[in-house]
Amino acid sequence: MSEPRAERSEAAKRRASDASLSARGSDAGAERRPASDVIRPILKWAGGKRQLLPELRPYYPQRFDRYFEPFVGSGAVFLDLHNRGLLDGRVARLSDINADIIGAYRMVRDAVDEVIGALRGLESRYRADAAASFYAVRDREFNPARRGIRASADPAGAYTPALAAMLIFLNRTGYNGLFRLNASGDFNVPAGRHARPRICDETNLRHLSAAFNRPGVSLDVRAFDAALADARASDFVYLDPPYAPLSTTARFTSYTAGGFGPTEQARLQEVVIALASRGAFVLLSNSSAPEIRRLYESERARDAGLRAKTVPARRAINSQAANRGPVREYVITNIAK
Ligand SMILES: C[S@@+](CC[C@H](N)C(=O)[O-])C[C@H]1O[C@@H](n2cnc3c(N)ncnc32)[C@H](O)[C@@H]1O
Repeated sequence: MSEPRAERSEAAKRRASDASLSARGSDAGAERRPASDVIRPILKWAGGKRQLLPELRPYYPQRFDRYFEPFVGSGAVFLDLHNRGLLDGRVARLSDINADIIGAYRMVRDAVDEVIGALRGLESRYRADAAASFYAVRDREFNPARRGIRASADPAGAYTPALAAMLIFLNRTGYNGLFRLNASGDFNVPAGRHARPRICDETNLRHLSAAFNRPGVSLDVRAFDAALADARASDFVYLDPPYAPLSTTARFTSYTAGGFGPTEQARLQEVVIALASRGAFVLLSNSSAPEIRRLYESERARDAGLRAKTVPARRAINSQAANRGPVREYVITNIAK
Protein backbone atom coordinates (compact mmCIF):
# COMPACT_ATOMS: atom_id res chain seq x y z
CA MET A 1 0.00 0.00 0.00
CA SER A 2 1.49 3.37 -0.90
CA GLU A 3 1.89 6.01 1.84
CA PRO A 4 0.04 9.34 1.36
CA ARG A 5 2.43 12.24 0.53
CA ALA A 6 2.52 13.91 3.94
CA GLU A 7 3.10 10.53 5.64
CA ARG A 8 5.78 9.68 3.13
CA SER A 9 7.73 12.84 3.81
CA GLU A 10 7.39 12.36 7.59
CA ALA A 11 8.71 8.81 7.20
CA ALA A 12 11.55 9.92 4.95
CA LYS A 13 12.57 12.69 7.42
CA ARG A 14 12.56 10.12 10.19
CA ARG A 15 14.70 7.62 8.32
CA ALA A 16 17.24 10.28 7.37
CA SER A 17 17.61 11.60 10.90
CA ASP A 18 17.66 8.10 12.43
CA ALA A 19 20.60 7.30 10.18
CA SER A 20 22.53 10.47 10.99
CA LEU A 21 21.92 10.27 14.74
CA SER A 22 22.70 6.64 15.21
CA ALA A 23 26.35 7.47 14.55
CA ARG A 24 26.55 9.74 17.61
CA GLY A 25 26.67 7.21 20.39
CA SER A 26 24.32 6.93 23.31
CA ASP A 27 25.80 8.50 26.41
CA ALA A 28 24.36 12.02 26.51
CA GLY A 29 24.72 13.66 29.93
CA ALA A 30 21.82 14.32 32.30
CA GLU A 31 22.42 18.04 32.83
CA ARG A 32 19.23 20.00 33.54
CA ARG A 33 18.57 22.94 31.23
CA PRO A 34 18.49 26.43 32.78
CA ALA A 35 15.04 27.26 34.25
CA SER A 36 14.33 29.76 31.43
CA ASP A 37 14.66 26.97 28.85
CA VAL A 38 12.50 24.38 30.62
CA ILE A 39 9.51 23.43 28.46
CA ARG A 40 6.12 22.67 29.97
CA PRO A 41 3.35 20.72 28.18
CA ILE A 42 1.15 23.06 26.12
CA LEU A 43 -1.90 20.87 26.66
CA LYS A 44 -3.55 19.78 29.87
CA TRP A 45 -4.15 16.16 28.98
CA ALA A 46 -6.33 13.82 31.03
CA GLY A 47 -3.90 11.35 32.54
CA GLY A 48 -1.01 13.80 32.05
CA LYS A 49 2.03 12.51 33.88
CA ARG A 50 3.57 15.63 35.41
CA GLN A 51 2.61 14.57 38.92
CA LEU A 52 4.04 11.10 38.48
CA LEU A 53 7.44 12.30 37.25
CA PRO A 54 9.19 11.92 40.63
CA GLU A 55 8.21 8.23 40.62
CA LEU A 56 9.35 7.72 37.02
CA ARG A 57 12.66 9.61 37.03
CA PRO A 58 14.61 7.03 39.03
CA TYR A 59 14.05 4.61 36.16
CA TYR A 60 15.28 6.84 33.31
CA PRO A 61 18.24 4.94 31.88
CA GLN A 62 21.35 7.12 31.57
CA ARG A 63 22.46 5.22 28.49
CA PHE A 64 20.10 4.18 25.78
CA ASP A 65 19.78 4.32 22.03
CA ARG A 66 16.48 5.74 20.75
CA TYR A 67 13.46 7.00 22.72
CA PHE A 68 9.91 5.85 21.93
CA GLU A 69 6.75 7.30 23.46
CA PRO A 70 3.73 5.76 21.72
CA PHE A 71 0.99 7.32 23.93
CA VAL A 72 2.46 10.80 23.95
CA GLY A 73 -0.60 12.89 25.00
CA SER A 74 0.72 16.14 26.49
CA GLY A 75 4.26 14.75 26.33
CA ALA A 76 5.09 15.27 30.01
CA VAL A 77 7.73 12.52 30.05
CA PHE A 78 9.22 13.44 26.66
CA LEU A 79 9.59 17.02 27.90
CA ASP A 80 11.05 15.95 31.23
CA LEU A 81 13.69 13.88 29.41
CA HIS A 82 14.32 16.75 27.00
CA ASN A 83 14.61 19.27 29.86
CA ARG A 84 17.18 17.03 31.54
CA GLY A 85 19.25 16.80 28.37
CA LEU A 86 18.65 13.06 28.14
CA LEU A 87 17.43 13.26 24.54
CA ASP A 88 20.26 15.38 23.19
CA GLY A 89 21.64 13.71 20.07
CA ARG A 90 19.04 10.97 20.21
CA VAL A 91 16.15 9.87 18.06
CA ALA A 92 12.77 10.42 19.74
CA ARG A 93 9.75 8.75 18.14
CA LEU A 94 6.61 10.35 19.51
CA SER A 95 3.21 9.09 18.50
CA ASP A 96 -0.41 8.91 19.56
CA ILE A 97 -3.56 7.59 17.97
CA ASN A 98 -5.18 11.01 18.37
CA ALA A 99 -4.73 12.84 15.04
CA ASP A 100 -5.69 16.21 16.53
CA ILE A 101 -2.88 16.17 19.03
CA ILE A 102 -0.28 15.12 16.45
CA GLY A 103 -1.66 17.57 13.87
CA ALA A 104 -1.46 20.41 16.41
CA TYR A 105 2.09 19.47 17.43
CA ARG A 106 3.18 19.42 13.82
CA MET A 107 1.78 22.93 13.37
CA VAL A 108 3.67 24.09 16.47
CA ARG A 109 6.76 22.53 14.93
CA ASP A 110 6.29 23.88 11.39
CA ALA A 111 4.28 27.12 11.74
CA VAL A 112 4.74 28.40 15.29
CA ASP A 113 4.36 32.09 14.32
CA GLU A 114 0.94 31.47 12.78
CA VAL A 115 -0.16 29.36 15.76
CA ILE A 116 0.91 32.10 18.17
CA GLY A 117 -0.80 34.81 16.08
CA ALA A 118 -4.08 32.86 16.02
CA LEU A 119 -3.85 32.01 19.72
CA ARG A 120 -3.32 35.68 20.64
CA GLY A 121 -6.51 36.54 18.77
CA LEU A 122 -8.41 33.81 20.63
CA GLU A 123 -6.98 34.99 23.93
CA SER A 124 -8.25 38.54 23.47
CA ARG A 125 -11.70 37.28 22.48
CA TYR A 126 -11.72 35.15 25.63
CA ARG A 127 -10.73 38.08 27.85
CA ALA A 128 -13.66 40.06 26.41
CA ASP A 129 -16.27 37.31 26.98
CA ALA A 130 -15.06 33.93 28.23
CA ALA A 131 -18.15 31.73 27.83
CA ALA A 132 -19.36 33.26 24.55
CA SER A 133 -15.93 32.94 22.94
CA PHE A 134 -15.47 29.33 24.11
CA TYR A 135 -18.75 28.13 22.58
CA ALA A 136 -18.39 30.24 19.43
CA VAL A 137 -14.92 28.78 18.79
CA ARG A 138 -15.99 25.23 19.61
CA ASP A 139 -19.27 25.12 17.67
CA ARG A 140 -18.91 27.65 14.87
CA GLU A 141 -15.21 27.43 14.05
CA PHE A 142 -13.33 24.39 15.41
CA ASN A 143 -15.91 21.66 14.78
CA PRO A 144 -16.88 22.84 11.26
CA ALA A 145 -13.19 23.10 10.27
CA ARG A 146 -12.46 19.67 11.80
CA ARG A 147 -15.35 18.13 9.86
CA GLY A 148 -13.62 19.31 6.72
CA ILE A 149 -10.46 17.31 7.42
CA ARG A 150 -11.82 14.31 9.34
CA ALA A 151 -12.73 12.43 6.21
CA SER A 152 -9.29 12.90 4.68
CA ALA A 153 -6.88 9.96 4.61
CA ASP A 154 -4.46 11.89 6.84
CA PRO A 155 -6.30 14.31 9.17
CA ALA A 156 -3.11 15.18 11.09
CA GLY A 157 -1.39 16.09 7.80
CA ALA A 158 -4.36 18.33 6.93
CA TYR A 159 -4.19 20.25 10.23
CA THR A 160 -3.79 24.03 9.97
CA PRO A 161 -2.25 26.62 12.33
CA ALA A 162 -5.79 27.93 13.01
CA LEU A 163 -7.01 24.46 14.05
CA ALA A 164 -3.95 23.96 16.25
CA ALA A 165 -4.53 27.30 17.96
CA MET A 166 -8.20 26.45 18.52
CA LEU A 167 -7.32 23.03 19.95
CA ILE A 168 -4.89 24.64 22.41
CA PHE A 169 -7.44 27.34 23.27
CA LEU A 170 -10.28 24.85 23.88
CA ASN A 171 -7.99 22.62 25.90
CA ARG A 172 -6.81 25.42 28.16
CA THR A 173 -10.25 26.96 28.68
CA GLY A 174 -12.41 23.82 28.56
CA TYR A 175 -13.40 21.47 31.35
CA ASN A 176 -10.50 19.59 32.94
CA GLY A 177 -8.34 19.37 29.82
CA LEU A 178 -10.62 16.69 28.39
CA PHE A 179 -10.67 15.72 24.73
CA ARG A 180 -14.08 14.16 24.20
CA LEU A 181 -16.00 13.56 21.01
CA ASN A 182 -19.75 12.99 20.65
CA ALA A 183 -21.32 10.23 18.56
CA SER A 184 -20.97 12.32 15.41
CA GLY A 185 -17.29 12.87 16.05
CA ASP A 186 -17.51 16.52 17.17
CA PHE A 187 -15.54 17.87 20.11
CA ASN A 188 -18.11 18.43 22.87
CA VAL A 189 -16.25 19.31 26.08
CA PRO A 190 -17.98 22.16 27.96
CA ALA A 191 -16.30 25.37 29.12
CA GLY A 192 -14.25 25.03 32.29
CA ARG A 193 -14.21 27.35 35.25
CA HIS A 194 -10.85 29.06 35.14
CA ALA A 195 -10.06 32.36 36.84
CA ARG A 196 -7.47 33.54 34.30
CA PRO A 197 -6.17 30.67 32.21
CA ARG A 198 -2.85 31.14 30.46
CA ILE A 199 -3.83 30.72 26.84
CA CYS A 200 -0.89 31.92 24.76
CA ASP A 201 2.47 31.23 26.40
CA GLU A 202 4.58 32.39 23.49
CA THR A 203 7.99 31.55 24.97
CA ASN A 204 6.95 28.03 25.86
CA LEU A 205 5.42 27.47 22.40
CA ARG A 206 8.64 28.61 20.73
CA HIS A 207 10.72 26.33 22.95
CA LEU A 208 8.43 23.40 22.17
CA SER A 209 8.66 24.19 18.47
CA ALA A 210 12.45 24.06 18.70
CA ALA A 211 12.32 20.75 20.62
CA PHE A 212 10.06 19.21 17.95
CA ASN A 213 12.35 20.55 15.22
CA ARG A 214 15.42 18.89 16.66
CA PRO A 215 16.85 16.33 14.21
CA GLY A 216 15.59 12.90 15.11
CA VAL A 217 12.24 13.90 16.65
CA SER A 218 9.23 12.52 14.80
CA LEU A 219 5.50 12.96 15.40
CA ASP A 220 3.20 10.32 13.97
CA VAL A 221 -0.38 9.16 14.25
CA ARG A 222 0.00 5.48 15.04
CA ALA A 223 -1.57 2.77 17.15
CA PHE A 224 0.94 1.78 19.86
CA ASP A 225 1.75 -1.64 18.41
CA ALA A 226 2.58 -0.24 14.96
CA ALA A 227 4.65 2.52 16.57
CA LEU A 228 6.77 -0.04 18.44
CA ALA A 229 7.22 -2.56 15.66
CA ASP A 230 10.89 -1.73 15.16
CA ALA A 231 11.90 -0.85 18.75
CA ARG A 232 14.91 -2.98 19.66
CA ALA A 233 17.57 -3.72 22.28
CA SER A 234 18.82 -0.61 24.14
CA ASP A 235 15.93 1.59 22.99
CA PHE A 236 14.04 3.27 25.84
CA VAL A 237 10.24 2.95 25.61
CA TYR A 238 7.88 4.82 27.94
CA LEU A 239 4.27 3.67 27.71
CA ASP A 240 1.37 5.50 29.27
CA PRO A 241 -1.84 3.95 27.96
CA PRO A 242 -5.34 5.00 28.97
CA TYR A 243 -5.60 3.52 32.45
CA ALA A 244 -7.64 0.42 33.18
CA PRO A 245 -10.59 1.52 35.37
CA LEU A 246 -10.36 0.86 39.08
CA SER A 247 -14.09 0.17 39.15
CA THR A 248 -16.62 -0.55 36.42
CA THR A 249 -18.23 2.88 36.91
CA ALA A 250 -14.94 4.70 36.51
CA ARG A 251 -14.13 3.68 32.93
CA PHE A 252 -12.62 6.65 31.19
CA THR A 253 -12.13 6.07 27.50
CA SER A 254 -12.73 9.42 25.93
CA TYR A 255 -9.38 10.06 24.23
CA THR A 256 -10.61 8.43 21.05
CA ALA A 257 -13.85 7.02 19.74
CA GLY A 258 -12.39 3.49 19.90
CA GLY A 259 -11.58 3.38 23.60
CA PHE A 260 -9.02 1.18 25.29
CA GLY A 261 -10.55 -1.86 26.96
CA PRO A 262 -9.34 -5.24 28.28
CA THR A 263 -8.47 -6.46 24.77
CA GLU A 264 -6.14 -3.50 24.20
CA GLN A 265 -4.62 -3.89 27.69
CA ALA A 266 -3.89 -7.55 26.95
CA ARG A 267 -2.40 -6.67 23.55
CA LEU A 268 -0.26 -4.03 25.25
CA GLN A 269 1.03 -6.60 27.73
CA GLU A 270 2.09 -8.81 24.79
CA VAL A 271 3.94 -5.90 23.20
CA VAL A 272 5.61 -4.95 26.50
CA ILE A 273 6.76 -8.52 27.12
CA ALA A 274 8.12 -8.73 23.56
CA LEU A 275 10.01 -5.45 24.01
CA ALA A 276 11.52 -6.55 27.32
CA SER A 277 12.50 -9.89 25.79
CA ARG A 278 14.25 -8.04 22.94
CA GLY A 279 16.31 -6.08 25.48
CA ALA A 280 14.60 -2.69 25.21
CA PHE A 281 14.36 -0.58 28.39
CA VAL A 282 10.65 -0.54 29.17
CA LEU A 283 8.82 1.76 31.57
CA LEU A 284 5.03 1.59 31.79
CA SER A 285 2.51 3.38 33.97
CA ASN A 286 -0.99 2.08 34.56
CA SER A 287 -3.67 1.96 37.23
CA SER A 288 -3.55 -0.56 40.03
CA ALA A 289 -6.71 -2.28 38.76
CA PRO A 290 -6.86 -6.07 39.34
CA GLU A 291 -6.79 -6.53 35.55
CA ILE A 292 -3.35 -4.86 35.42
CA ARG A 293 -2.03 -6.81 38.41
CA ARG A 294 -3.03 -10.04 36.67
CA LEU A 295 -1.27 -9.02 33.47
CA TYR A 296 2.01 -7.83 34.98
CA GLU A 297 2.45 -9.90 38.10
CA SER A 298 2.18 -12.95 35.87
CA GLU A 299 4.97 -15.50 35.44
CA ARG A 300 5.40 -14.50 31.77
CA ALA A 301 5.94 -10.86 32.69
CA ARG A 302 8.39 -11.80 35.45
CA ASP A 303 10.24 -14.18 33.13
CA ALA A 304 10.71 -11.27 30.72
CA GLY A 305 12.40 -9.35 33.55
CA LEU A 306 9.46 -7.04 34.34
CA ARG A 307 8.65 -5.92 37.86
CA ALA A 308 5.40 -4.21 38.91
CA LYS A 309 5.53 -1.77 41.78
CA THR A 310 2.72 0.40 43.14
CA VAL A 311 3.42 4.07 43.81
CA PRO A 312 1.25 6.81 45.30
CA ALA A 313 -0.13 9.25 42.73
CA ARG A 314 -2.81 11.88 42.41
CA ARG A 315 -5.12 11.68 39.45
CA ALA A 316 -7.83 14.10 38.44
CA ILE A 317 -9.68 12.19 35.76
CA ASN A 318 -12.71 11.16 37.76
CA SER A 319 -15.30 13.90 37.70
CA GLN A 320 -16.65 13.05 41.16
CA ALA A 321 -14.49 15.08 43.52
CA ALA A 322 -14.92 12.39 46.19
CA ASN A 323 -13.07 9.91 43.98
CA ARG A 324 -10.06 12.15 43.42
CA GLY A 325 -7.42 12.19 46.10
CA PRO A 326 -4.42 9.92 46.46
CA VAL A 327 -4.60 6.58 44.70
CA ARG A 328 -1.93 4.03 44.00
CA GLU A 329 -0.84 3.26 40.51
CA TYR A 330 1.55 0.86 38.87
CA VAL A 331 4.99 1.48 37.52
CA ILE A 332 6.08 -1.58 35.55
CA THR A 333 9.64 -1.84 34.32
CA ASN A 334 12.67 -3.97 33.56
CA ILE A 335 15.03 -1.07 34.36
CA ALA A 336 17.11 -1.21 37.55
CA LYS A 337 16.82 1.90 39.73
C1 LIG B 1 -2.88 8.50 29.62
S1 LIG B 1 -2.81 9.35 28.07
C2 LIG B 1 -1.12 9.72 27.91
C3 LIG B 1 -0.76 10.91 28.74
C4 LIG B 1 0.65 11.38 28.57
N1 LIG B 1 1.62 10.47 29.14
C5 LIG B 1 0.81 12.75 29.21
O1 LIG B 1 1.67 12.97 30.04
O2 LIG B 1 -0.01 13.63 28.85
C6 LIG B 1 -3.07 8.08 26.92
C7 LIG B 1 -2.90 8.48 25.45
O3 LIG B 1 -3.02 7.30 24.66
C8 LIG B 1 -3.61 7.62 23.40
N2 LIG B 1 -4.16 6.36 22.86
C9 LIG B 1 -5.32 5.73 23.13
N3 LIG B 1 -5.40 4.55 22.47
C10 LIG B 1 -4.24 4.43 21.78
C11 LIG B 1 -3.70 3.43 20.92
N4 LIG B 1 -4.38 2.31 20.65
N5 LIG B 1 -2.47 3.62 20.39
C12 LIG B 1 -1.77 4.76 20.64
N6 LIG B 1 -2.24 5.75 21.45
C13 LIG B 1 -3.44 5.59 22.01
C14 LIG B 1 -4.64 8.68 23.76
O4 LIG B 1 -4.96 9.47 22.64
C15 LIG B 1 -3.93 9.45 24.89
O5 LIG B 1 -3.27 10.60 24.41
